[in-house]
Amino acid sequence: MRKTLLLVASALLMALVTAQAGCGGGDGGTGSVCPTTAPPTYDAFAKPFFDTYCVSCHSSARTGAQRGGAPVGRDYDTLAGVRTDLDAIDAESAAGPDATNTSMPPGIPQPSADDRKKLGEFLACEKAK
Ligand code: HEC
Repeated sequence: MRKTLLLVASALLMALVTAQAGCGGGDGGTGSVCPTTAPPTYDAFAKPFFDTYCVSCHSSARTGAQRGGAPVGRDYDTLAGVRTDLDAIDAESAAGPDATNTSMPPGIPQPSADDRKKLGEFLACEKAK
Protein backbone atom coordinates (compact mmCIF):
# COMPACT_ATOMS: atom_id res chain seq x y z
CA MET A 1 0.00 0.00 0.00
CA ARG A 2 2.75 2.42 0.99
CA LYS A 3 4.68 1.53 -2.13
CA THR A 4 1.64 2.16 -4.35
CA LEU A 5 1.15 5.59 -2.84
CA LEU A 6 4.79 6.41 -3.42
CA LEU A 7 4.51 5.33 -7.06
CA VAL A 8 1.41 7.42 -7.61
CA ALA A 9 3.06 10.41 -5.97
CA SER A 10 6.18 10.19 -8.13
CA ALA A 11 4.10 9.72 -11.28
CA LEU A 12 2.19 12.91 -10.45
CA LEU A 13 5.42 14.76 -9.80
CA MET A 14 6.85 13.67 -13.15
CA ALA A 15 3.70 14.82 -14.93
CA LEU A 16 3.93 18.20 -13.22
CA VAL A 17 7.59 18.67 -14.11
CA THR A 18 6.93 17.70 -17.74
CA ALA A 19 3.96 20.07 -18.01
CA GLN A 20 5.99 22.96 -16.62
CA ALA A 21 8.91 22.31 -18.94
CA GLY A 22 6.60 22.73 -21.92
CA CYS A 23 4.97 25.90 -20.65
CA GLY A 24 6.25 29.24 -21.91
CA GLY A 25 9.84 28.14 -21.51
CA GLY A 26 10.57 28.56 -25.17
CA ASP A 27 11.34 24.95 -25.87
CA GLY A 28 8.15 23.66 -27.43
CA GLY A 29 6.88 23.75 -31.00
CA THR A 30 3.67 25.77 -31.28
CA GLY A 31 1.79 23.37 -33.57
CA SER A 32 0.84 26.35 -35.75
CA VAL A 33 -0.79 25.74 -39.11
CA CYS A 34 -0.42 27.75 -42.33
CA PRO A 35 -3.78 29.48 -42.92
CA THR A 36 -5.43 28.65 -46.24
CA THR A 37 -6.69 32.21 -46.69
CA ALA A 38 -4.44 35.25 -46.50
CA PRO A 39 -1.36 33.57 -44.98
CA PRO A 40 1.15 36.04 -43.51
CA THR A 41 3.81 36.90 -46.11
CA TYR A 42 7.49 37.70 -45.71
CA ASP A 43 7.27 41.22 -47.16
CA ALA A 44 4.10 42.33 -45.39
CA PHE A 45 4.57 40.59 -42.04
CA ALA A 46 7.77 38.66 -41.35
CA LYS A 47 10.41 41.10 -42.59
CA PRO A 48 9.07 44.01 -40.52
CA PHE A 49 8.65 41.62 -37.56
CA PHE A 50 12.27 40.42 -37.65
CA ASP A 51 13.55 43.94 -38.36
CA THR A 52 11.71 45.29 -35.33
CA TYR A 53 12.34 42.52 -32.79
CA CYS A 54 15.35 40.43 -33.83
CA VAL A 55 17.97 41.94 -36.15
CA SER A 56 19.40 44.28 -33.52
CA CYS A 57 21.21 41.07 -32.44
CA HIS A 58 20.53 38.37 -35.06
CA SER A 59 21.94 40.01 -38.22
CA SER A 60 24.65 39.01 -40.67
CA ALA A 61 25.74 42.66 -40.53
CA ARG A 62 26.55 42.40 -36.81
CA THR A 63 29.71 40.95 -35.31
CA GLY A 64 31.20 40.52 -31.85
CA ALA A 65 29.59 42.47 -29.05
CA GLN A 66 27.11 44.06 -31.49
CA ARG A 67 25.30 40.71 -31.54
CA GLY A 68 24.22 41.01 -27.92
CA GLY A 69 25.23 37.37 -27.40
CA ALA A 70 23.13 36.02 -30.29
CA PRO A 71 24.80 32.85 -31.62
CA VAL A 72 26.96 33.46 -34.72
CA GLY A 73 25.26 32.35 -37.93
CA ARG A 74 21.73 32.62 -36.59
CA ASP A 75 20.78 35.66 -38.63
CA TYR A 76 17.28 36.78 -39.50
CA ASP A 77 17.98 39.80 -41.70
CA THR A 78 17.15 37.73 -44.82
CA LEU A 79 14.46 35.18 -45.65
CA ALA A 80 17.22 32.65 -46.39
CA GLY A 81 18.57 33.13 -42.87
CA VAL A 82 15.13 32.71 -41.33
CA ARG A 83 14.59 29.53 -43.34
CA THR A 84 17.63 27.85 -41.80
CA ASP A 85 16.12 28.24 -38.30
CA LEU A 86 12.34 27.74 -38.64
CA ASP A 87 11.89 25.25 -35.79
CA ALA A 88 14.09 27.11 -33.32
CA ILE A 89 12.38 30.46 -34.02
CA ASP A 90 9.01 28.77 -33.51
CA ALA A 91 10.19 27.37 -30.18
CA GLU A 92 11.59 30.71 -28.94
CA SER A 93 9.19 33.36 -30.18
CA ALA A 94 5.95 32.08 -31.68
CA ALA A 95 2.53 31.26 -30.26
CA GLY A 96 0.05 28.62 -31.38
CA PRO A 97 -2.30 25.88 -30.20
CA ASP A 98 0.44 23.92 -28.39
CA ALA A 99 2.63 26.63 -26.85
CA THR A 100 3.17 30.33 -26.27
CA ASN A 101 6.89 30.95 -26.48
CA THR A 102 8.31 34.21 -25.20
CA SER A 103 12.03 33.55 -24.65
CA MET A 104 12.92 35.78 -27.62
CA PRO A 105 13.34 38.66 -27.92
CA PRO A 106 14.94 38.89 -24.47
CA GLY A 107 14.20 42.59 -23.93
CA ILE A 108 11.98 45.33 -25.26
CA PRO A 109 10.18 45.98 -27.52
CA GLN A 110 8.06 42.82 -27.14
CA PRO A 111 5.79 41.59 -29.96
CA SER A 112 2.03 41.46 -29.31
CA ALA A 113 0.33 38.10 -28.70
CA ASP A 114 -1.28 38.45 -32.11
CA ASP A 115 2.08 38.99 -33.82
CA ARG A 116 3.52 35.90 -32.09
CA LYS A 117 0.57 33.92 -33.43
CA LYS A 118 1.11 35.30 -36.93
CA LEU A 119 4.79 34.41 -36.66
CA GLY A 120 3.86 30.80 -35.89
CA GLU A 121 1.62 30.75 -38.95
CA PHE A 122 4.29 32.29 -41.15
CA LEU A 123 6.86 29.70 -40.02
CA ALA A 124 4.33 26.90 -40.66
CA CYS A 125 3.80 28.23 -44.20
CA GLU A 126 7.57 28.29 -44.79
CA LYS A 127 7.90 24.74 -43.48
CA ALA A 128 5.16 23.59 -45.83
CA LYS A 129 7.05 24.95 -48.88
C1 HEC B 1 19.14 41.68 -27.43
C2 HEC B 1 19.64 40.66 -28.34
C3 HEC B 1 18.66 39.67 -28.92
C4 HEC B 1 17.49 39.93 -29.60
C5 HEC B 1 16.86 41.27 -29.93
C6 HEC B 1 16.99 38.64 -30.01
N1 HEC B 1 17.81 37.63 -29.58
FE1 HEC B 1 17.62 35.64 -29.99
N2 HEC B 1 19.32 35.25 -28.92
C7 HEC B 1 20.01 36.19 -28.19
C8 HEC B 1 20.98 35.51 -27.36
C9 HEC B 1 21.93 36.18 -26.38
C10 HEC B 1 20.85 34.13 -27.62
C11 HEC B 1 21.65 32.97 -27.01
C12 HEC B 1 21.19 32.63 -25.64
C13 HEC B 1 19.85 31.98 -25.63
O1 HEC B 1 19.60 31.03 -26.40
O2 HEC B 1 19.01 32.42 -24.81
C14 HEC B 1 19.80 34.00 -28.60
C15 HEC B 1 19.38 32.80 -29.14
C16 HEC B 1 18.34 32.67 -30.04
C17 HEC B 1 17.96 31.44 -30.66
C18 HEC B 1 18.65 30.10 -30.46
C19 HEC B 1 18.06 29.36 -29.32
C20 HEC B 1 18.63 27.96 -29.27
O3 HEC B 1 19.42 27.71 -28.37
O4 HEC B 1 18.29 27.17 -30.15
C21 HEC B 1 16.89 31.70 -31.47
C22 HEC B 1 16.14 30.72 -32.35
C23 HEC B 1 16.60 33.11 -31.32
N3 HEC B 1 17.50 33.67 -30.45
C24 HEC B 1 15.57 33.76 -31.96
C25 HEC B 1 15.30 35.11 -31.83
C26 HEC B 1 14.18 35.77 -32.47
C27 HEC B 1 13.20 35.07 -33.40
C28 HEC B 1 14.23 37.07 -32.12
C29 HEC B 1 13.25 38.15 -32.45
C30 HEC B 1 11.85 37.86 -32.18
C31 HEC B 1 15.39 37.24 -31.25
N4 HEC B 1 15.99 36.03 -31.09
C32 HEC B 1 15.80 38.45 -30.70
C33 HEC B 1 19.88 37.55 -28.26
C34 HEC B 1 18.85 38.22 -28.90
